[in-house]
Amino acid sequence: MQIKFDFNNMMQEQLGDKGISESQIEAVRAKAKDSFDYLEANRGKGWMGWTELPYNQEDIVRDIIYTAAEVRAKFDNFVVLGIGGSALGPMAVYNALCHLHYNELDPKKRGVKFYVEDNVDPERMLALLDVVDPAKTMFNVITKSGATSETMSQYLIITDILKKKIGKDWAKHIIATTSESKGNLIKLAKENGFKTYFIPESVGGRFSELCPVGLLPAAVLGIDIIGMLRGAAEVDKACNSSDPYKNPALMAAVLQYIAMEEKGANISVMMPYADSLKLMADWYCQLWGESLGKGVDFDGKEVHKGQTPVKALGVTDQHSQVQLYTEGPFDKVITIIGVERFRGNVEIPQGAEEFPDVNFLCGHSMEELINTERRATEYALTRSKHMNRTILLEEVSASTIGGLMMFFQLETAYCGKMLNIDTFNQPGVEEGKNATYAMFNRHGYEKKREELQKAPKKNGKYII
Ligand code: PA5
Repeated sequence: MQIKFDFNNMMQEQLGDKGISESQIEAVRAKAKDSFDYLEANRGKGWMGWTELPYNQEDIVRDIIYTAAEVRAKFDNFVVLGIGGSALGPMAVYNALCHLHYNELDPKKRGVKFYVEDNVDPERMLALLDVVDPAKTMFNVITKSGATSETMSQYLIITDILKKKIGKDWAKHIIATTSESKGNLIKLAKENGFKTYFIPESVGGRFSELCPVGLLPAAVLGIDIIGMLRGAAEVDKACNSSDPYKNPALMAAVLQYIAMEEKGANISVMMPYADSLKLMADWYCQLWGESLGKGVDFDGKEVHKGQTPVKALGVTDQHSQVQLYTEGPFDKVITIIGVERFRGNVEIPQGAEEFPDVNFLCGHSMEELINTERRATEYALTRSKHMNRTILLEEVSASTIGGLMMFFQLETAYCGKMLNIDTFNQPGVEEGKNATYAMFNRHGYEKKREELQKAPKKNGKYII
């Protein structure tokens, strides 16, 4: 496999009693097998449609590649309007697989400029409109529910501008990615004749990167989406065992389960050592946090499970958070993502012979330096007995990125099942959405509005 999972530094052999023992793994083996069996039995069913995405999208992929080529030929900009699972995947893949200053490249060296608008900050919308000409822009509105206030407000703003600026052909500037059967966007798409891609009913937002949600933006950027799906399939197949020692995603879940339930590790730090993977940590944070942070379990018991995901970046955060990780409380699992071969390298030239404290760097490369610093951080964390594990990618490519995303999705789903919670719902998020609707006097939310009015009022003495 192009991805390796090294969990040495989670184990007692390295960490003494701060680590996990093989007997602790044995003790949850049956639970892990149960989780594996559950996922296998439910592949493609219920909310588990994401397991089949690497295998069942041949026609869709062909259509996406064709559309992407048309977008590149006709437009200067491609703007994603979406939030949460409808934005974080496209951003992470763009960051991973495009030039790190892609939009600023000479137009001959890139395709269309790319933007993902995942907030309703008015200044950000105005800033976007300052830099893109709507007449030369394709907008990809992504919302599975077709009801998300943030995305639908952006849709209204953009379509209003398009109608005024472009007139009758405005609808040719919108591609809708949404549910085939539910919500408002599909109705608007039919009414206006938007090109439309469907998000399978069995695929939830944060598990949707490998369906048209992520594949269309990636293909527009010229990314090898077939390679992404191939990489995801490779990892999926490598995780085809109920034995955690033969299934890396299952072992990853087992270790996190033990860390949470038996070692008090309430925090999961995701720390890639590559700028291209910086936004992968954001994507992971949603996947892990929204999937596992649950108040009640499958039996309706109040449990308040979850592990707070934290994003970090190596080596940058060695000069910020790593002090805490190395000497602070034993409440974390730190996942380091390393890259063996970077896509480019820079030699550190000679020129500091008279300064031995700097000269030791000369003749080495930045790739050597970042990877040495990664190993040094692993060493420092392990020496101070803090649980850490490393996912090592041979390189950052379409296939390893697809594989990495599949790895984390599997780990999340296995772990959720082991915790006996519903990995695929998000009642906490819905609560905030519903409160917004009530505050905006949306029809159907009168009861919620009454509830809000009865909520304890803020006390002025606590606002100073
Ligand atoms: O994981 C999820 O389901 C959520 O984060 C959604 O992706 C997010 O709320 C956006 O929902 P929608 O795609 O319906 O606009």
